[in-house]
Amino acid sequence: MSLTPEHLQTAAHTYGTPLYVYDAAELDAALARVRAAFGDARVYYAMKANPNLTLLRRLHAQGVGFECVSAGELARAARVGATGDRILVNGPAKSPGEYATGAQLGATFILDREEEVRLLPPASRALVRVNPALNVSTHDHLATGAAGSKFGVTLEQAPRVLDALRAAGHTGLGLHVHIGSAIRDAHDFTAAFHRLGELRAHTGPLDVLDAGGGWGLGADLHGIAREARAAAATFGAQLWVEPGRYLVAQAGTLLTRVVGTKRTGRNFVLVDAGMTELLRPMLYGATHPVTPLWERGGTDTWDLAGPACESGDLLGRDLTLPDPQPGDLLAIHEAGAYGAAMSSNYLTRARPAEVLHDAGIWTVIRQRETPQDIWRAEENV
Ligand code: LLP
Repeated sequence: MSLTPEHLQTAAHTYGTPLYVYDAAELDAALARVRAAFGDARVYYAMKANPNLTLLRRLHAQGVGFECVSAGELARAARVGATGDRILVNGPAKSPGEYATGAQLGATFILDREEEVRLLPPASRALVRVNPALNVSTHDHLATGAAGSKFGVTLEQAPRVLDALRAAGHTGLGLHVHIGSAIRDAHDFTAAFHRLGELRAHTGPLDVLDAGGGWGLGADLHGIAREARAAAATFGAQLWVEPGRYLVAQAGTLLTRVVGTKRTGRNFVLVDAGMTELLRPMLYGATHPVTPLWERGGTDTWDLAGPACESGDLLGRDLTLPDPQPGDLLAIHEAGAYGAAMSSNYLTRARPAEVLHDAGIWTVIRQRETPQDIWRAEENV
């Protein structure tokens, strides 16, 4: 992140808080790191991490494709001009409309269960998602490659589903695996790719191995890439990857101002952002680094509490902060992925503005919502 505290103060002053700010230089740096590690692998950005059109246009211009899991995400991909082999259609319960739009756009489908062989539009290109049945080192909600998770077909079913695809006149390009998100231990990837590699005897060579995403922010990308490439080589396949978080998390910061403080059972700094702006701490117990953008004495330990009438509405716990005063500004880091994307209108709270800093210039890339924006679909019905 190359944005200085002065940059952040200026943005908060100009655009108000809560505010999502993104650093274009860090967005580009993250993509460069992925390309350095994965070489000529095809990159499909999992836009669920942050579907902002400006970010999508930027990635599209840099040759990145998109992994889409809803009609809305497909509409975004089309909106920024992506077509054909730049789009993947994924998801465990695709709708008829999603199959139709995917076909219109010429997208590649990721099959999540055998029934889909009959649901795909005629002569589709498809990969079969395999669930390697592994224990994955992440929060339960983020583990998708465990035996009990709803995703993919079993290792045993995979070769048969590929055969069925081809018998039905589709192009069975290969296999797909995505074991979860924010994965802490790189060995999980090694284990997953290894299990897939064992299918080679049953599938023969394949055109594509899609190794998914899921890389934690501190991940050893080169290590993961080495294992993914080895697995792809086992099948003689081209490697595809689907990073979401890794491409956008570090570029994004949530700015929030101190509203006040109270000392009751614990010390609370009350701020103007909470679960409606950044749900991850509440939903997954996620911790995001927090920087106070003021200097003062009187350091103490504080919990960061939002404005919602829910006890779980905490953005951080046990933070060491200098004496907080109303109006002081805090930066919540690593918020570019699954931050704005998962923000909500609960409590009729308007979702925050989003701004991009690029070569010294700030641009609003999403306007702050108004209450009228929120209730528009309820009027004149
Ligand atoms: N590919 C597939 C098939 C996925 O399901 C996902 C994420 C990705 C790629 C990208 O994963 P990433 O590289 O971002 O870890 N809301 C959660 C994360 C849910 C991820 C869901 N699938 C969070 O805030 O941590």
